[in-house]
Amino acid sequence: MLKAYDTEVKILGLTFENPILPASGPIVEGLENLLTLNALPLGGLVTKTISVKGAEVMKPCIVGTKNMVYNCELWSELDHEIWIDILKQVVAVKQKPLGISVGYTLADFETIVPKLNPYADFFEVSTHYNKLKLVDLVKCITSLTDKPVLMKTSPQSEGELQFVETVMSSGASGIVAFNSFGPGVVVDLKKRSVLIGTSEGNTWVSGPAIKPFVLKRIAMIREHFPEIPIIGCGGVDSAKDALEMILAGADLVQMLSGALLKGRQNYEVVVNGLKQVMAENDISSIESLRKTGLGLVASGVGGLPEIDETLCIRCGICAKVCPMMAYPQEKELPSVNPSKCMRCGLCESLCPKSAISGVLSIAR
Ligand SMILES: Cc1cc2nc3c(=O)[nH]c(=O)nc-3n(C[C@H](O)[C@H](O)[C@H](O)COP(=O)(O)O)c2cc1C
Repeated sequence: MLKAYDTEVKILGLTFENPILPASGPIVEGLENLLTLNALPLGGLVTKTISVKGAEVMKPCIVGTKNMVYNCELWSELDHEIWIDILKQVVAVKQKPLGISVGYTLADFETIVPKLNPYADFFEVSTHYNKLKLVDLVKCITSLTDKPVLMKTSPQSEGELQFVETVMSSGASGIVAFNSFGPGVVVDLKKRSVLIGTSEGNTWVSGPAIKPFVLKRIAMIREHFPEIPIIGCGGVDSAKDALEMILAGADLVQMLSGALLKGRQNYEVVVNGLKQVMAENDISSIESLRKTGLGLVASGVGGLPEIDETLCIRCGICAKVCPMMAYPQEKELPSVNPSKCMRCGLCESLCPKSAISGVLSIAR
């Protein structure tokens, strides 16, 4: 029986039962999707980015690999009037805070924000395709709503700290960090062309592969802005990932690619896994973890590898991957040659049975 681990987050004047939200994307486009996610144990909901007119998206537009997603989607393909009808129905039954994602021009905001305002618990503003001055953008949208306004940053924007400084001093309530990374390209070698892309051949990259870059940036933003509300987003795929992001400084966590690659049920898996991972890592509450701050002194010990022969299955992976050939090449119980071993940690991190310790000394 698990102790009472507290997953509740109170922020922006709202209460989230747990810190996990979907991120804006196709999985939160339209009524059926939002009602389906409302029925899952998520802490909150977010919509696909809404603008005045539905976007005309180049098709195909999404490619998945084992640990990343490439996309060249734009905003919602539905006009805002259709969204108003959808939101009425969602708000009638929803049991959790709803963030409405909006874009892009001042004229768009003047048309849609007053109409969407009754349905929003907070607004999230995509700046991905926005070349406008951030100050004007924030001032415009905050003048049109009484709800919290979170500005979503894209890694390609002028610099994260400058972005946060500008939007917070212009009246934003917090930030969402980050949108997909890029631009990048996906190649179709046979056709000597990009496989998907915008008119310039660009795609945007998300999913587990971007997590380290997102964590670093969130930790940096949190260090400079200890008090601002931050929704972390990018590369989360598991409860452990989400808790890592909170340790780095996020108050809430959004996930999209982790659900595109594994299906919507991964939201449930992540939320249901939170208490277990909190128990394993002695985390009593989300709030306490968020306030801890990520230690930047490496915890690995850098000793020689020690092999637990009761766990070792003689698979030979350590010998295969060792950059210094410090393990014997035969598939026998490995013993490391200390004069060759560079104590890097690669073997310990790749051992499928966690039979190696002493280098990274990963807490298991
Ligand atoms: C197919 C796809 C569509 C997306 N559409 C939007 C969008 O409409 N608005 C937005 O702010 N972000 C959009 N994003 C970015 C995601 O919300 C998120 O910031 C990014 O994918 C990183 O999170 P993840 O690694 O959990 O996917 C989209 C991402 C993907 C993959």
